[in-house]
Amino acid sequence: MKPLVVGNWKMHGTQSEASALAREIRKGLKNINDVDVVLAPPFTCLGAVTRVLKGSAIGLAAQNVHWEEEGAFTGEISPKMLRALGCRFVIVGHSERRRLFQESDQAVAEKTLASLRAGLRPILCVGETSEERKKELTTRVFARQLRTALKGVGKSAIEKIEIAYEPVWAIGTGQNATPRQISRAHRWIQEVLQGLFGRKGAQKCRILYGGSVRPENAAELARVPEVSGLLVGGASLKATTFLSIVRSFRPHMGSGK
Ligand code: PGA
Repeated sequence: MKPLVVGNWKMHGTQSEASALAREIRKGLKNINDVDVVLAPPFTCLGAVTRVLKGSAIGLAAQNVHWEEEGAFTGEISPKMLRALGCRFVIVGHSERRRLFQESDQAVAEKTLASLRAGLRPILCVGETSEERKKELTTRVFARQLRTALKGVGKSAIEKIEIAYEPVWAIGTGQNATPRQISRAHRWIQEVLQGLFGRKGAQKCRILYGGSVRPENAAELARVPEVSGLLVGGASLKATTFLSIVRSFRPHMGSGK
């Protein structure tokens, strides 16, 4: 399975800043075709970035989506609109949306289904808070988040979804999860997916890790056998750091990843 590195720019950048960053990343990826790369700029920059990426293999993602096609939903953006802009991916269920904007598991499920219907690949984020980890609820949290979000997703559609394990306590804190914690979490996620989609189906789904990924720790994280990609926040805002993270997968090419 080709590894996937996603840059989540969150609420950063004007159109011209985003274009400049995308241009630099495109240039830096010229000779790299063994890693899939996706950029997720803010809504306002999607148009500018799609123009920069035209004709390249770099994918474009939105950071959020509404589940209706159109209607009286002030401030919302539909999957159809994102497709028309050139998006092929969309992040759903990011913990910042769940936590700061009260997004429920049910809303995440609606977004996942609507994205698939429109031909967008959801990057579905799951992960526990430090409180939940301390109380040993981690596996229960995954099971709930995954089972709710993937309810109604047909057996064959699982290969159109990317899962991102993002422990809430690791996001933007500088404290990444350890390879051992990640390996266990990813195996548990695999198990839940197997229960829902069968062994073969589950194996077709990439599971990314996200949370304080930096050039300094990327190689170690990329080496974890259960990690099929990385979701990068802060370190994706600079071309040099992002490209160095993408390159961290390259020494392992040919080792089955
Ligand atoms: P971070 O964010 O890399 O800045 O920790 C990751 C994310 O929120 O996807």
